[in-house]
Amino acid sequence: MNFENLKRTDKVAYDLIMAEMNRQETSLDIIPSECLASVSVIEALWSPFTNKYSEWYAKKRYYWGNEVVDKVETLAIERAKIAFPGVAHVNVQAYSGSPANMAIYNALCNVWDTILWLALSQGGHLTHGHSVSATSKFFNAVQYWLKEDWFIDLEEVEKLAIEHKPKVIVVGFTAYSREFPFDEFSKIAKKVWAYLMADISHISGLVISGVHTSPAPFCDVIMTTTHKTLKGPRGALIMVTEKWLEFDSELSKKIDKSIFPGLQGWPHNHQTLAIAVALWETQTEKYRQLNRQIVINAKKLASELSTYWFDVATNWTDNHLVLAWVGKWRWEFMQKALDKAWITLNKNTIPNDEWTAFFPSGIRMWTPILSHRWMKEPQVIKLASWMNEIKEIISEFNYKETREERKIQKKEFREFISNNSRIKEIRLEVKEMCEQFPIYK
Ligand SMILES: Cc1ncc(COP(=O)(O)O)c(C=O)c1O
Repeated sequence: MNFENLKRTDKVAYDLIMAEMNRQETSLDIIPSECLASVSVIEALWSPFTNKYSEWYAKKRYYWGNEVVDKVETLAIERAKIAFPGVAHVNVQAYSGSPANMAIYNALCNVWDTILWLALSQGGHLTHGHSVSATSKFFNAVQYWLKEDWFIDLEEVEKLAIEHKPKVIVVGFTAYSREFPFDEFSKIAKKVWAYLMADISHISGLVISGVHTSPAPFCDVIMTTTHKTLKGPRGALIMVTEKWLEFDSELSKKIDKSIFPGLQGWPHNHQTLAIAVALWETQTEKYRQLNRQIVINAKKLASELSTYWFDVATNWTDNHLVLAWVGKWRWEFMQKALDKAWITLNKNTIPNDEWTAFFPSGIRMWTPILSHRWMKEPQVIKLASWMNEIKEIISEFNYKETREERKIQKKEFREFISNNSRIKEIRLEVKEMCEQFPIYK
């Protein structure tokens, strides 16, 4: 990628881009939900469409001069319908996943209607009714949980649905490594006459590529972010399925009105174009192959980590995600030590965690970025072995009971990981492996 103009006009900004590209090139990033947009998507993002104001929708604009922008929006919508068969209406204007979710709830519910979501601590998203999210301020949030075995408790979902008669049931998660059971949820939603909404932000690429069941035959409304496995720019798609339009022909209008003028203003047209480009790229064999590899790599990571005695949730994964229990405060040590070797992952609550999202007992990993670099099983095996080595190196550091002890320990730990020669070696090995699988070159 060429940033020559910026290099001349604003060297500070240019240097930041170079530093970030170097960080991405030489680190092993397994943080959900980060992914890699293609160079074409990034080119579309820096297009002059960013200059154009175009409130409302194609052919119904409040401003003039939108004949080209209309074509961009229509193109993105058409491509989304091709990528997701069974979808009848698409809104491509949501700025990102959180506003898109809010727009759907706003379209389907009145204030204080009940919505049934998976709790955040169990793998749901903040916008699925968590107490700190506006979604729980405006709607009555009833939350379902996972069973002891870390699978969704469908009996409990049904019981809660019958008891609370929700207006909407949400199926879709941010930290759930098994197949999303759309069919089972649709049977429950039918029983209580609730809308069924799928949030497939994490798995949309897998759905497009046929490596995960599509929600389209089962759900009424589908939301996906466009920057995760869809490999696009930051943004979101709100889709109304053919299934639902048979019952409520007004639903598409409600969704569109909820986005604009309900919640947003001017659509980000450069982002819409980049979404169209990303959707186009999903229609290739290369993309399908990539998504197959994402799942193969995740399964390999789960099985390798299990052999090293990491406590992997459900002992397996069906998708792109691996969750593991590492124990009270261990994530803090793991995350920091791995980061020294430039292996980046994130802390996460694990199902039935006794700790909060700020101090959870688990780590969450995913494989889209390494798969995008065409790293395969041998590289995943290497990654798991580095993780194990680092786990062993820091094994003497355990959670201390008092704040004072922890303060001292933190300092000792920082010094320990900065000076440990094996961690330094692993850093070089990680860099060497990454250089064999370049992103931007
Ligand atoms: C399942 C799910 N829904 C919604 C969102 C929100 O998306 P955004 O970060 O674009 O607001 C996320 C983001 O991580 C997510 O994982």
